[in-house]
Amino acid sequence: MTTTTSLYERIGGEVGITNLIDAFYDRIIDDDSLRPFFEHSSVETIRRMQREFFAAAVGGPIVYTGRSLREVHTGRGVTKQHFARFIEHLMDTLKEHDVSEKDHYDIISRLNTYVDEITGDTVNG
Ligand code: HEM
Repeated sequence: MTTTTSLYERIGGEVGITNLIDAFYDRIIDDDSLRPFFEHSSVETIRRMQREFFAAAVGGPIVYTGRSLREVHTGRGVTKQHFARFIEHLMDTLKEHDVSEKDHYDIISRLNTYVDEITGDTVNG
């Protein structure tokens, strides 16, 4: 009999995701091109909601209780370039953590499906 683990379990469940999102947002806040977006927001709240969103997106037993991504990001001027930079930081964070390369692509492609919700209102978005 073979046992399979879910993507959520391979990332390390709740603890793994908390560590991952913390490291990821440290990178975002360190990036001069992304930091301004977060200056008037509570990074603690975003981290908490991102943990939920991320856990649900990778198939974890978690329900995302935040607002719709379109509602949250509309009017903030997030372009595809910002989105790409954001995803690049996620990729670098995944490389630093104990997550296999195959899983990196799975995670990134799941998040890429939200690009229109996040950048849909920008001219070059
Ligand atoms: C796949 C990519 C992304 C996902 C899944 C995502 C997800 C989220 C979530 C779950 C929240 C919290 C929602 C809530 O409080 O109810 C949030 C907030 C926020 N996000 Fe994103 N986000 C993404 C990309 C981006 C990008 C690229 C930017 C800007 C460069 C951005 C800027 C923000 C800001 C400024 C807030 C705080 C809004 C507030 O203060 O209420 N996000 N995001």
